[in-house]
Amino acid sequence: MKPMTLNVEAFDDWLRTRFVELNNELEHLYWLQADKANVVGVGDDLKTQLETEGRKHICALLDEGNTDEGFDAAFDLLGNVGLYMAACRRHEITEPTRETQSPLVEASALAMHIGASIGVTPRFATAHLTTHNLARDGKYKRFTDLPDERLFVDYNTKGILAYKRAADALLKILPLGVSHPITADLLKLARQALQDVMDSNSTLFSELDTDRFFYCVRPYYKPYRVGSQVYRGANAGDFAGINVIDLLLGLCYANEPSYSQMLVDKFLYMMPEDQAILRDCMRRTSLMEHFLAATGAKDQSWYQDNLRLFLEVCELHGQTAIQHHDQLVRKYIAEPSVNMQQQHMAKVTASGPPLHVLIGALEKLRDRRAAVKRSDIRTAWQDVERLKATLS
Ligand code: HEM
Repeated sequence: MKPMTLNVEAFDDWLRTRFVELNNELEHLYWLQADKANVVGVGDDLKTQLETEGRKHICALLDEGNTDEGFDAAFDLLGNVGLYMAACRRHEITEPTRETQSPLVEASALAMHIGASIGVTPRFATAHLTTHNLARDGKYKRFTDLPDERLFVDYNTKGILAYKRAADALLKILPLGVSHPITADLLKLARQALQDVMDSNSTLFSELDTDRFFYCVRPYYKPYRVGSQVYRGANAGDFAGINVIDLLLGLCYANEPSYSQMLVDKFLYMMPEDQAILRDCMRRTSLMEHFLAATGAKDQSWYQDNLRLFLEVCELHGQTAIQHHDQLVRKYIAEPSVNMQQQHMAKVTASGPPLHVLIGALEKLRDRRAAVKRSDIRTAWQDVERLKATLS
C-alpha cells in the first residue's frame, strides 16, 4: 500500500482514538436509560464534538482532492468517511427520514467522489470493518471499545473468511469437472470450511450479549443518506462467496427474480474483485446440474465418492443458513425487537424494510439453501432427492 497523505493519516488517527472515545461515552449514557434505544437529548455536547471534529478532517481531505494513492488507500479512506457518517446516523446527528439531503455535505461529497471512482457504494461496507481493516498494534478500527462489538466483528470476519474458503474450493472444481479425482479433495476442503462457519457461529451465539448487541452495536449498521440517496446498512453477507456457494452447489438460481434481485442490490456493496467473481459465477452451470447429467455413471466409484461428498457439502451449507436464521437472527434481532418500544421499531433492520418482510426474505433464503420442499418458491429439494436415490 502507498503511504498515506498527512490529512489521511490525521483522520485515520482521529478515528482510531478520539472518535472511539466519543462513541464510548455516548454508549455509556444511552445504556444508563430505562429506554436504552433512546438517543434524543442525551450527550448533545459529545455529539457536537463528534460532528465538528470529524467535519474538520473531512474538509481538509475534500480540499486536497484526488491524490491518486491507489485503490487500497481510496477504499480505506471511503471506509473512514463511512464510519464517521454511520456514527452520526447512530447518534441521530443525521436521520434519513427527517432529511431529504444528508446534512454532512462535505462527507457526502468525499464519499461519492471516492465511491464512484472505484466502483463501490459510497458508504462504509462490511469489508471495511472485517476483511479489509488494518490493525495497528493488534487493534483494528471499530466504533467503540465495547467487548461485544469486538466479538461481533471478529466472528463476522471469521465467518466471511470461512465462506470464502469454501467458495474458492468449489470454484476450483469448475475446470476439473465432477468426475476428477482431485474434486474429492476440493469438496472436502469446502466441507471443512463450512464446518468452520458452523463452529464460529456457535461461539458467537453462545458468547454475544443480546442487549449489548441490539442496543450498542447494531445501531451503527443502520441505513444512512449520502447526498440525497439512502444507502442500506452493511451486513455480513456483502461478499461474493456466500452466493458463489449457493449458485455453484445449485441450491439457488441466478434467474429466479427474488434471488437475482438480491444479487443486483448487493453488487456495489462488495469489493470490485468480488463483483467480478460473482458475475462470472452467474453464467456457470452448477455442480448439481453436472451431477444430474452424470447419473448414468452411478455404478462408478468416482460418482459414488464425489456425489456423497457433494451432498454433504450441500447439507452443511443448509445447516449454516438454518443456524444463521434460527439462532443468530432470532436471538439478536427478532426476539429483542418484540420488547422494543414501538417508536423505535421502524429503525431496527440494517436494510430498511419492516422486520417481518426482512425475516420472510431471510426464511426463503434459508429454505433454498437447505433444499426444503416448498410450494411457493423454487428450491432444489427434488434435485437433491433424485441424486440421493442414486447413492448405493
Ligand atoms: C444478513 C443478522 C452474523 C452472514 C443478515 C441480515 C440480518 C442478519 C438481520 C439481513 C440483512 C439486514 O438486516 O439488512 C445477523 C446477526 C448476526 C449475524 C444478528 C450475529 C449476531 C452473521 C455472520 C455471518 C452472517 C457471522 C457469516 C458470514 C450473513 C449473510 C447475510 C446476512 C450471508 C446476507 C443474506 C444472506 O445471503 O443470507 N444477517 N447476522 N451473518 N448475514 Fe448475518
